[in-house]
Amino acid sequence: MGVLTGRTALVTGASRGIGRGIAERLGRDGARVAVHYGRNETAAKETVAAIEGAGGSAFALGVELGTPGDAEALWEEFDRHADGLDILVNNAAIGTTRPIDQLEEREYDEVFAVNVKAPFFILKHAMARLRDGGRVVNISSGLARTAAMPDNVAYAMTKGALDVLSRDLSKVLGHRGITVNSVAPGIIDTDNTAPLLHGSPDGWAKAAAYSALGGVGRPAEVADVVAFLVSDGGRWTTGSWVDVTGGSLT
Ligand SMILES: NC(=O)c1ccc[n+]([C@@H]2O[C@H](COP(=O)([O-])OP(=O)(O)OC[C@H]3O[C@@H](n4cnc5c(N)ncnc54)[C@H](OP(=O)(O)O)[C@@H]3O)[C@@H](O)[C@H]2O)c1
Repeated sequence: MGVLTGRTALVTGASRGIGRGIAERLGRDGARVAVHYGRNETAAKETVAAIEGAGGSAFALGVELGTPGDAEALWEEFDRHADGLDILVNNAAIGTTRPIDQLEEREYDEVFAVNVKAPFFILKHAMARLRDGGRVVNISSGLARTAAMPDNVAYAMTKGALDVLSRDLSKVLGHRGITVNSVAPGIIDTDNTAPLLHGSPDGWAKAAAYSALGGVGRPAEVADVVAFLVSDGGRWTTGSWVDVTGGSLT
């Protein structure tokens, strides 16, 4: 019996990276995990297989976010596999690396559609499905609170918007015992950061220098914090912004 046995969780963007780390951790803790993916069905099936291989239960659901009707499509698919929800982790997101003077309107619209509009409507439709005492975690970023990488301004803005969603929805859902928090990673070793970390000989060392702990995070470090927030131990923490940057904001 795990601490999440009997619970159902949905993790968006769980085919790879941080989302996969979270999905695998929640699966190990006993939750039945809906492994959402966008384009990478093979990778999502690998996440499902890893959870099942560790004795857990999971299923994959693919919906491209940032497209009209994405949230409704996601929940329609979810409802075919599960009856109600206990844990929602809004993790799927895309980045931008162009500074404001080079960023095109199309790219701005896309990053807001995937990183803000999609989680907003996923949460809107989750409300009727979430059981009392449930948990919502929105994966933010340390960049919402530092100007260390100003070329990522549009991406950082999306995470600021997501943080407001966490804060305000904690009030909306609090009377049902549902907590809503933002978890903000620093630089984590995933496909997303591969160009930064592995694109130049000193990339890793430069990234490590941002953190007080002198390192680069792994998905498991984020997953451990999410696991706490969604456990019974997280019941009195809501509307919070939890720093998982290894001290990059100090
Ligand atoms: N890595 C970092 O250093 C870092 C730092 C701070 C915050 N974060 C945040 O942590 C989260 C995960 O980041 P990551 O580095 O693990 O990212 P990643 O390795 O690029 O993986 C992104 C995941 O999101 C899914 N996804 C992306 N766009 C999608 C779309 N339009 N529709 C559906 N699914 C989509 C991908 O699915 P498919 O591959 O199936 O399309 C994949 O599962 C994001 O919210 C990111 O902003 C990351």
